[in-house]
Amino acid sequence: MALDVALDIGTASTRLATAQRGVLFNEPTMVAIDTSSGDVVEVGLGALELVGRTPRHVVVFRPFAQGATVDFDVTARLIAGLFDRAGISKLSRARVVMSVPSLATAIERRALRQAAIQAGAREVSLVESPLAAAIGLGLPVQDPIGSAVVLLGAGASEVVVVSLGGIVTGRARRIGSSDVDGALATLLRVQRGVVVAPRVVEELKITLADATGSSRAPQEIVAARTVDRGVPVSVEVDSDLVHRALGDVLNALVRMVEECLSDTPPDLSQDVSSRGMTLAGGFAQLSNLDGLLAQATGVDVRVAAQPELVVIQGLQYCLEEMSSLHALFREADR
Ligand SMILES: Nc1ncnc2c1ncn2[C@@H]1O[C@H](COP(=O)(O)OP(=O)(O)OP(=O)(O)O)[C@@H](O)[C@H]1O
Ligand SMILES: [Mg+2]
Repeated sequence: MALDVALDIGTASTRLATAQRGVLFNEPTMVAIDTSSGDVVEVGLGALELVGRTPRHVVVFRPFAQGATVDFDVTARLIAGLFDRAGISKLSRARVVMSVPSLATAIERRALRQAAIQAGAREVSLVESPLAAAIGLGLPVQDPIGSAVVLLGAGASEVVVVSLGGIVTGRARRIGSSDVDGALATLLRVQRGVVVAPRVVEELKITLADATGSSRAPQEIVAARTVDRGVPVSVEVDSDLVHRALGDVLNALVRMVEECLSDTPPDLSQDVSSRGMTLAGGFAQLSNLDGLLAQATGVDVRVAAQPELVVIQGLQYCLEEMSSLHALFREADR
């Protein structure tokens, strides 16, 4: 029997699921490659743990940025490594359903499809991430009812209103939670004169950031190095600094959602007003983001349970539907 695989490769994390076994992989979008042989050494957490510990011929790559592949060959190897980890043999010629941000260009879509084929997939179907999210949330996407979803990832942010199985209005930007990390790292370097490891910067964001600026934990003390001489030091980082790092991204996201809603036809807009909108993606967990968006738009906002898994759940549902439809075709074929 052909194997069906759902794959959601994100800027920060990658998820893989099969219809039979559910989510099998949910780890960083990273792959360690032996550049002398071309072999995949590790994927996901295994690759993350190798950062800074590899001999010169092993290189750890992050082949995605802003929601798109930045290196075709490395992406193909990452997918092959994922198949391997999930016990999917190249010979099984899997059918793959993959997410793609709605703002992906034709070239980016082709690159993603080809990378999966090079990794051994027989057939690749692409589903736009916000639509997959709406399906994963169990919203009535096939009905003539407007459902609004805001998908906030590490490298891309999208908002859509779906109805009758498709996206009616939408907006997307190549910004996300990782841009907050970038802004915070810059502030720490320029204002405090220290360099902080990316993983620590992300932790600071997760523990101190709040969309409304109300202080959660007042400050954190973290390890850093001075910019000038590289001397190890401890720095105290307060939530004000983190809030300043959030500013540009938050403004852009609020504007994006407002624009989408103001573009939505009146009847669907009425549906959104009465039914509210749902936030998904990892950045949806930012404290008080629901309140900020509700205040800006006047629409009720809720955050999905396990928001970072909503897209892969939607893709998994697509797989199940696909196999049941295939079963129908087989019935008719007899
Ligand atoms: N509590 C939190 N507050 C703020 N950000 C958070 C929180 N929890 C997770 N994040 C951020 O969410 C991001 C991961 O989200 P997600 O897994 O949806 O991204 P992705 O799918 O890899 O990226 P994309 O789909 O944009 O390519 C990370 O940048 C992470 O730091
Ligand atoms: Mg994503």
